[in-house]
Amino acid sequence: MKFFIDTANLAQIKEANDLGILDGVTTNPSLMAKEGIKGTAAVLQHYVDICNMVDGDISAEVISTDYKGIIEEGKKLAALHKNIVVKVPMIKDGIKAIKWFTDNGIKTNCTLIFSAGQAILAAKAGATYVSPFLGRVDDMGADGIELIYQIRRIFDVQGFKTEILAASIRNALHIIKCAEAGADVCTCPLDSILGLLKHPLTDSGLAKFLEDAKKFA
Ligand code: E4P
Repeated sequence: MKFFIDTANLAQIKEANDLGILDGVTTNPSLMAKEGIKGTAAVLQHYVDICNMVDGDISAEVISTDYKGIIEEGKKLAALHKNIVVKVPMIKDGIKAIKWFTDNGIKTNCTLIFSAGQAILAAKAGATYVSPFLGRVDDMGADGIELIYQIRRIFDVQGFKTEILAASIRNALHIIKCAEAGADVCTCPLDSILGLLKHPLTDSGLAKFLEDAKKFA
């Protein structure tokens, strides 16, 4: 399973990248706004900065919601760097645009996926990635991990090549469950990635080893 970080914060991206386990980055308009980035030029430059930090797929989301607008915006984003993946919302014009991007060799990430049916449509259009938002599904009392399992089963049975990019990750357990469910990629906040490191027996075991090491130092 590939690890992406789900943030537009350059310090967090650097920290995850320095771990040596990072395969890519996902952003969205909310994450960009959180960084206080203002104006089109600054937004585009921020994507380039991320691309220059991480050698992997970098999702940059379109704001347009009509077919022509999505295509124009997506072309500009894709021209920024070879690693840009155009992130397109799961709407009717988005599906049409994903088909156009696919036919024109531009990678896409279909975002805001909350059902297997939506994932099937995006895969049929040739999306590189589908992003089921499992945390938001959990938030409303349904089972986000089961959605990942269901999409995995469908894609395997149908032979869809679209990668399942599990998104809206809330904690380390989500990452483990996504790995178990067969997600191709998990895009995670830094805290959730670092949460995988933690175990009290590791801490106490290391403390004991270091204490004993003093005996022969
Ligand atoms: C995915 O690419 C989205 O950016 C993200 O995972 C949404 O997560 P949220 O539910 O924490 O906003």
